[in-house]
Amino acid sequence: MKAIKRELGEESEGGAEVADFEKRIKEAGLPEHAADAARKELDRMRVMSISSAEYSVIRTYVEWLVSLPWSKSSSDELDLKQAETELNEDHFGLEEVKTRILEFLAVRKLKRDNRGPILCFAGPPGVGKTSLGRSIARSMNREFVRMSLGGVRDEAEIRGHRRTYVGALPGRIIQSLRKVGVNNPVIMLDEIDKLGSDFRGDPSSALLEVLDPAQNNTFSDHYLDVEFDLSSTFFITTANDVSQIPGPLRDRMEIIDIPSYMTDEKVQIGERYLLPRQLEEAGLKPSHLFITEPGMRAIISGYTREAGVRRLEQRIGSICRKIARSVAEGKRRRVKLTGEHVANFLGPAPYAEDTLPDHPQVGIALGLAWTPVGGEILVIESTSMPGSGKLQVTGMLGEVMRESSQIALSYLHAHAESLAIPADRFAKQDIHLHVPEGAQPKEGPSAGIALATSLASLLSDTPVRNDLCMTGEITLTGQVLPVGGIREKIVAAARRGITTIVMPKANEKDLFYVPDHIKARLKFHFVADLGHALRMTMQQPVKRTKNSRKSVVA
Ligand SMILES: Nc1ncnc2c1ncn2[C@@H]1O[C@H](COP(=O)(O)OP(=O)(O)OP(=O)(O)O)[C@@H](O)[C@H]1O
Ligand SMILES: [Mg+2]
Repeated sequence: MKAIKRELGEESEGGAEVADFEKRIKEAGLPEHAADAARKELDRMRVMSISSAEYSVIRTYVEWLVSLPWSKSSSDELDLKQAETELNEDHFGLEEVKTRILEFLAVRKLKRDNRGPILCFAGPPGVGKTSLGRSIARSMNREFVRMSLGGVRDEAEIRGHRRTYVGALPGRIIQSLRKVGVNNPVIMLDEIDKLGSDFRGDPSSALLEVLDPAQNNTFSDHYLDVEFDLSSTFFITTANDVSQIPGPLRDRMEIIDIPSYMTDEKVQIGERYLLPRQLEEAGLKPSHLFITEPGMRAIISGYTREAGVRRLEQRIGSICRKIARSVAEGKRRRVKLTGEHVANFLGPAPYAEDTLPDHPQVGIALGLAWTPVGGEILVIESTSMPGSGKLQVTGMLGEVMRESSQIALSYLHAHAESLAIPADRFAKQDIHLHVPEGAQPKEGPSAGIALATSLASLLSDTPVRNDLCMTGEITLTGQVLPVGGIREKIVAAARRGITTIVMPKANEKDLFYVPDHIKARLKFHFVADLGHALRMTMQQPVKRTKNSRKSVVA
């Protein structure tokens, strides 16, 4: 067979290629087991016709083996001082996050075996998770690869297809290692909370093997079929919602929460980071555009509604392009953008904050809601009409919130006497409770106190304070239970000029995370039972002056 082949001139042709591969196996420093696997394939190639389909399948495989960075790594120097400088250069604020990153890096520097938990940045979109990962890679002097896992449902995307499939390829981890050409990059696995799973296998179990420091030194890709050592790779993951990460994966991660930004922080980020970057993108000089602080605030409040700063960056970008055009046409030299001028560049503001009641009213209570884009004030209104004691609830409220209003009503009925509610009001009247912005679904138990206050006010004909916001879950026996999102809620309240907050006693510790200058503006009442809460919320009415509303900006 061989002799015939040689006659046909086939073997020598393949022979050159095989010899070339032999050389590359040595150069690439393949570990023993991988070199063996490659040589076995080379032996098969020697006796095959190079025009056969099988030959090219094998050639592709060996090509993969020899081009992986088995023993090639970039010099890994971790200078903590430099890491700190890099992080500060690219990111405003985030003090706590930076501290935790530096602590994590310090441990990695001291403990050289790379066996530690995997970092996971968790937070809403646009708060800088991906860009923090980039800075870490830069400060460690390593290559950076970003890999989005959103919508990955197939295990083979992570771990590759077996070679028996036509057109099989290694999984994405191996592919990116080949692309960067070193075995110690920083790989950022974005959106790990959006992994799917179906009949094609569960990608999270494959990821478990990738991320688990105890097993990833022998990671096996289905296509390669030989083990690859991933232990020098530095994995960072990101997620919007930690609760959606599969449990076993979550256990292996060190989760660092990145909170949403407050308006003050956004103003700083806008002025110091986003504006200079967008000016450069548009080919402008810093002297071409100056945005005043009220101007920046006008962009943030009128044209963005987000937890992060991505939309803000886009808005600044479109202003810069408009200015670039007039500068290029020779019309303008420099622009000073104030709050009033923003609409000239961006058109009418799409977002306007709904107005809060300007005097205490019966049946209108202010609750606090947490949304993915930050805190919000929830206006709750109720009214009554002759009827037979029915409660109607509108405003796209979810099941839990509807139940809260039932609980509130039952509590008030049971305690009518002590709350000065005439007993016959329940029997002879229907109540309608509504939470405006009806097109927006609302859910959660945290409006309990506010719902109860609105109803208590209606039934006892006492106005509710309009400078006071409340949050807290209630039980049928009148206990007040803790709720989430305290920081965002309080910031929202301060921004809208609220002076007093009624909140669960059990949430008092969460004030630790609220900036001091915001806390200083507010008075807090911590309550453990609903009776106490209602006494606070329905104190003597306070007249809200136009001034007190405008003077406070968060
Ligand atoms: N603290 C900050 N200082 C300066 N720039 C910031 C800060 N936070 C975010 N940015 C900028 O905002 C933009 C969006 O950030 P990034 O892409 O990192 O968001 P992300 O958290 O990864 O969002 P997603 O969850 O949508 O992927 C980037 O241009 C980033 O540089
Ligand atoms: Mg990102």
